[in-house]
Amino acid sequence: MLQEGKIYLGTSRKPDDTVNKGEYLDLKYGNRHGLVTGATGTGKTVTLQILAEGFSNAGVPVFCADIKGDLSGIAAIGEPKDFLARRAETIGLEDYRFQEFPVIFWDLFGEKGHRIRTTVSEMGPLLLSRLMNLTDVQEGILNIAFKLADDNGLALLDLKDLQALLADMGASAGELSTRYGNVTKQSVGAIQRGLLVLEQQGAASFFGEPALKIADIMRTTHDGRGAISVLAADRLMMNPRLYATFLLWLMSELFEELPEVGDPDRPRLVFFFDEAHLLFDDAPRVLVERVEQVVRLIRSKGVGIYFVTQNPLDVPETVLSQLGNRIQHALRAYTPREQKAVRIAAETFRPNPDFDAFEAITTLGTGEALVSTLQAKGIPSVVERTLIRPPSSRLGPLAEGERAGVIALSPVAGQYDEDLDRESAFEILNRRAEQAALAQEQEAGQDDRHAGAEHDGPSASGRSGGDVPRGPWTLPDFGDDDAGMDDRNGSSRSSGRGDSRRRSGYQRQTVTEVIIKSAARSAATTLGRVLVRGILGGLSKGR
Ligand SMILES: Nc1ncnc2c1ncn2[C@@H]1O[C@H](COP(=O)(O)OP(=O)(O)OP(=O)(O)O)[C@@H](O)[C@H]1O
Ligand SMILES: [Mg+2]
Repeated sequence: MLQEGKIYLGTSRKPDDTVNKGEYLDLKYGNRHGLVTGATGTGKTVTLQILAEGFSNAGVPVFCADIKGDLSGIAAIGEPKDFLARRAETIGLEDYRFQEFPVIFWDLFGEKGHRIRTTVSEMGPLLLSRLMNLTDVQEGILNIAFKLADDNGLALLDLKDLQALLADMGASAGELSTRYGNVTKQSVGAIQRGLLVLEQQGAASFFGEPALKIADIMRTTHDGRGAISVLAADRLMMNPRLYATFLLWLMSELFEELPEVGDPDRPRLVFFFDEAHLLFDDAPRVLVERVEQVVRLIRSKGVGIYFVTQNPLDVPETVLSQLGNRIQHALRAYTPREQKAVRIAAETFRPNPDFDAFEAITTLGTGEALVSTLQAKGIPSVVERTLIRPPSSRLGPLAEGERAGVIALSPVAGQYDEDLDRESAFEILNRRAEQAALAQEQEAGQDDRHAGAEHDGPSASGRSGGDVPRGPWTLPDFGDDDAGMDDRNGSSRSSGRGDSRRRSGYQRQTVTEVIIKSAARSAATTLGRVLVRGILGGLSKGR
């Protein structure tokens, strides 16, 4: 049954119920994406589990979300059960063995796995707008915010950085409008409120540093198995938009960061997008187009994307047509609408003269599916009615203690647990505001200006990825100038982080104003370190 270079999925059977031949997913076409569909309780999660096991055994790292917690058992060795043994026997899987898999647990909230974070800068305005459900006008303003930050090397790491920048923009709405068009205090305020809501939903924990290193979800073990990254998504699913945006971000991150590899003999990573309908539910057309583009292009980076959802109609046609490997579990067809869905699902398969696909989809048993995978030359196989193999790892969730054990022994233990709050927009803007006030005060009082300032370069180098062209940079114009100025008044004038020099009622120049005024000069000084954004608006790594 088990074959080199292929993942055994199960055994197909003839209409007269004779079990017939093995069905496989060819690793060579593992990057040609896939789709797992079916109504609740029909066997999708188990199918995902056996796919992840197969990829891991073939040395391919896997990333998947665990929506209900029942996928966590993949980290534990399977337990003998009658129904599993029976299934193995029925399908002729003679060397059915139990096995545990190398799992890394992740959790945006840091409760059931290692923290996963990204920075606001990395996520970019497109996805953030989607996350906050912004209007077009608000999205336009968010774009300006990112442009100001990107062009001026102002790091937006966490939500408070973006809050600080927006507060600043609100204060100079008038000036911004002359330069960029309609920026109103009200719209800026609306975005700020959106950010507050995000914070209340717990999204703040997702933004910041240390940001996830893509390499950490692409690990293999010493014995050549791919690590399976399991994202705890039960709490995350209470905010479906955050869940979908997060997975989109990760997908675009993979796309931007990985080099081209053409068509490798097996994928470099396989990414399961469970509850995929959340990605497309009332998504604006641009976003769907971009997703379609990423899915199409990411293949040559060796990444296979597998959508898991109830109904193939949940996935837009342009995306659907790119999903080469299909596993369709049972669907109900009572209402005309359901019947239509089943018909469309049936029509996406290469027909098998032995049976009617429509009929089959409505009568499939649990753990049974219509299967069609890409074969030689990338041609889809004739659809087969297939009994899916039983998993080798445990069916069902891990106990808390077991999970804690896996987390403690993980190769990334300790790397993502603590927040790192390096200097970023929030601190810089606050300090700048103090300094601007101070400078004006001095200008008013005396002729020679002594703005005691420390250098504004951030301490750490960019994000942990290493190859990000973020530089050691300084803030153009005000940062450089201040640093070059000799501080004749000595350290007493230096602005410490702690002491507040802001005067109430003092008319200060906002940092945004300073940025706008120096825009012409800064265009020159930032040449070569302007940040480039990719397809989904995340930072492009310039490969
Ligand atoms: N390949 C299989 N071999 C043996 N048993 C299976 C198989 N697939 C499914 N089952 C049985 O069916 C049950 C339900 O399957 P599963 O949890 O995968 O459904 P699901 O489609 O993910 O449901 P939901 O939509 O509710 O998450 C499993 O707990 C298991 O008992
Ligand atoms: Mg499930």
